[in-house]
Amino acid sequence: MAVREIRKYPDTILGKKTAPVDAIDGAIHRLIDDMVDTMHAAPGVGLAANQVGVPVQVAIIDLSAQKEYSRHPLIVLINPEILTTKGSVIEEEGCLSIPEFVEKITRAAMVTVRAQDRSGAVFELEAEGLLAKALQHEIDHLNGMLFVDRLSQLKRNIFRRKYRKTVLQKA
Ligand code: NI
Repeated sequence: MAVREIRKYPDTILGKKTAPVDAIDGAIHRLIDDMVDTMHAAPGVGLAANQVGVPVQVAIIDLSAQKEYSRHPLIVLINPEILTTKGSVIEEEGCLSIPEFVEKITRAAMVTVRAQDRSGAVFELEAEGLLAKALQHEIDHLNGMLFVDRLSQLKRNIFRRKYRKTVLQKA
């Protein structure tokens, strides 16, 4: 297991749709294990495979550091899709690929998601709260979408200016 490099905005791999996983083989298992290490080292609560430079439909979520999710196991999502959404909430979001920037984003309040786990078994998950937000954020990643892509034009421009000034000039 190893910590891989997290790709940062504006890396173009983050803006491209990822490919479905056909065979869940050793390479996919190694990828998942490395993603877990990388996410925990960051630290973060979610990570998509394209954030470590591998454009396939694999994402992980671990909310167990949060009090109300302390008993939730880490979730592995392979080929996930959102089946239904309900309601809407506006909450602050951040992303390991966009350091030092958080902004309020509108998301569905509840989602049901279908995915495969690391053994290939299909499961469905109904979620609200932080888990619903994380699921939508990670599935967006796999579709080549960042949370800043959901901002209004005005707020996106402010983001770009701020980001250029802070993060990109330090790099
Ligand atoms: Ni993210």
